[in-house]
Amino acid sequence: MNFYKQYDIYKQSVENAIEYYSNKIHCNETLKSSMIYSLKAGGKRIRPVMFLAALDMLGIDHNKYLYLAVAIECVHTYSLIHDDLPALDNDDFRRGKPANHTVYGEAIAIIAGDALLNYAFELSLSEVSDEGSFLAVKELALSAGHSGMINGQAYDLLTENGQVSGDNELLLKKIHDDKTGKLLTAPLVMASKIANGKYLNQLTKIGQLTGLLFQFTDDLLDIEGKFENLGKTIGKDGAANKLTAVSVYGPKETKNIIENTFTSIIIILKNIENNSFFIDFYNYIKNREN
Ligand code: IPE
Ligand code: IPE
Ligand code: MG
Ligand code: MG
Ligand code: MG
Repeated sequence: MNFYKQYDIYKQSVENAIEYYSNKIHCNETLKSSMIYSLKAGGKRIRPVMFLAALDMLGIDHNKYLYLAVAIECVHTYSLIHDDLPALDNDDFRRGKPANHTVYGEAIAIIAGDALLNYAFELSLSEVSDEGSFLAVKELALSAGHSGMINGQAYDLLTENGQVSGDNELLLKKIHDDKTGKLLTAPLVMASKIANGKYLNQLTKIGQLTGLLFQFTDDLLDIEGKFENLGKTIGKDGAANKLTAVSVYGPKETKNIIENTFTSIIIILKNIENNSFFIDFYNYIKNREN
């Protein structure tokens, strides 16, 4: 099947599952509205799609694990709500719409993020059915936590404020590995855990490289992208003096590294059976405009 058609089928399954679990949120109307505003604001759904596609690649029926796809997206969405807050990146647009805090105010945006993070684990632990899925939930918690995505956010912000310094290439790698790589490795490793550890080493390595590929393209799009495609403000990284692929390597070398990282991913992927969706997926990520 054509890659884009297959991606849309996975994405639609994710949207349906998000709808189902959104209907199980019962709380204060403003809090609920704020949670659902960001969860349903659009977004490429890359992480949950990777998870479902990886399960299929490993020969597991993904329909049993849609709740984990939703949990991954809840964690990612909370990370974006908090990332956009004035105290962090101070971004007023996300997914083509006003950022959560510009609609609901900072206080509600903060607790809506908290609630989405918690909900990811409420729904996961309610549905977990076997050792593999339990290990997958644990993997999600570790990837998102203080030694995962949040650690990357800490390095990103402390570097921006000049509170952390050192070799810029090493710092950049630490930021990208953690803030982006951890939540992009999680879907692949979670699928592997469900499949009794099948291709665990290869998928872990591919996940880490996906973080680099994805964040290098994100940093490049911050200078070369268009608001209409990205749905977020362009030029913010330079204005905030962020340590990014572009600030460390310049646009030309950033593009070379994107090509090399893509090639490294494909080399590992070629040793995995049923890889055709992912080969097309990485071409899409490499050339993405949003
Ligand atoms: C944005 O992630 C945050 C980064 C890690 C660069 P995405 O580009 O996946 O954002 P959505 O979910 O499609 O909005
Ligand atoms: C954010 O990185 C990664 C997260 C953990 C949310 P960025 O700050 O570069 O993401 P964008 O550009 O705002 O989407
Ligand atoms: Mg940020
Ligand atoms: Mg940001
Ligand atoms: Mg960015």
